[in-house]
Amino acid sequence: MTSRLFQPLTLRGLTLRNRVWLAPMCQYSSTDGMPSDWHLVHLGARAAGGFGLLLVEATAVVPEGRITPQDTGLWNDAQATAWARVVDFAHARGAAVGVQLAHAGRKASTFRPWDARHGTVPPEDGGWPTVGPSALAFEGYVEPAALTPEQLDGVVDAFAAATHRAHAAGFDVVEVHAAHGYLLHQFLSPLSNRRTDEYGGSLENRVRLLERVVVAVRAAWPERKPVMVRVSATDWADGGLTVEDVVEVTRRLAGLGVDLVDVSSGGNVAGAIPVGPGYQVPLARAVREGSGLPVSAVGLLTSAEQAEQVLVDGAADAVMIGRLALRDPMWPLRAAHELGADAGHGMPDDAEASVVWQPQYVRGAWR
Ligand SMILES: Cc1cc2nc3c(=O)[nH]c(=O)nc-3n(C[C@H](O)[C@H](O)[C@H](O)COP(=O)(O)O)c2cc1C
Repeated sequence: MTSRLFQPLTLRGLTLRNRVWLAPMCQYSSTDGMPSDWHLVHLGARAAGGFGLLLVEATAVVPEGRITPQDTGLWNDAQATAWARVVDFAHARGAAVGVQLAHAGRKASTFRPWDARHGTVPPEDGGWPTVGPSALAFEGYVEPAALTPEQLDGVVDAFAAATHRAHAAGFDVVEVHAAHGYLLHQFLSPLSNRRTDEYGGSLENRVRLLERVVVAVRAAWPERKPVMVRVSATDWADGGLTVEDVVEVTRRLAGLGVDLVDVSSGGNVAGAIPVGPGYQVPLARAVREGSGLPVSAVGLLTSAEQAEQVLVDGAADAVMIGRLALRDPMWPLRAAHELGADAGHGMPDDAEASVVWQPQYVRGAWR
């Protein structure tokens, strides 16, 4: 019997070989936004490990949209060319590749997690002034400048331009990052958006920037390729976004050509997330049922049985694996073995298998 995790999933013209996907994870390993050999090795190893879709880390659409000065970008053509090498390598291992397009807003220009200093990087150390919906700082960071309507037009244009480059680089999926307290989430949440213009106040106004970005991305992206959006389905805070709000947001996105919602949570309020096994699965189910769109679930999915059950229960259509994939790049192959799913073993007729041992690694296969 084929497990649910190892059944293909078709979104528009793209068929993913399985439903075990690599969560987007910043590697803080770029200079001037250029993907490096680290990205080739990191993503290449996980393509060989059997992931059906690799989501590339938050990739900035403008330099000032980077979370850290070491983030990747797609704001120029040289970056697209460098990404093409990574994408081609993953494609040759049977994985599809998506890029998470992002603007960090008031959470930009920060130190890397492993730096000795924390918070905002000052301009003299390579940082830059940040922007946001309102002049309200995230805890421990500097106060951003409120974006003008003209600057918001520029943000929308930058997402569209980066989408064109993502196509040129050969990416299969674009994911709009509207989660984790970054710019688009900052606009959605009443905790960070205190604007009085058409981008603030009612939910209809707070969702306007995200809707404009999605429309621009969809228009810049081939019809046959899917668009995904990552949302934080709750702020986990009084007065913040609730799952009901986010269901309403995703319902609106369904009408704009979004193909799948990647359901995460939190990030707009420091330290608010109640973490535990599968802690975001109920949110994924709520968005799936409320929006009518396919969803992916993420967050402390750490065993094959648990991940399989999320799909069997109908809570999600796919799972994303984050930290577990940092300690075990071959996890999809391990999970297939544990669930008794068929894995290809490096033979020429394996092309259609939902998970495949690369020929170089067949001697190490679990059988
Ligand atoms: C090192 C690291 C970097 C991350 N970077 C991103 C990112 O660029 N974009 C994003 O949406 N989430 C990011 N996340 C969150 C993950 O995608 C994932 O949602 C989270 O780690 C929970 O899943 P897990 O329990 O399987 O790790 C990051 C997580 C880690 C550990």
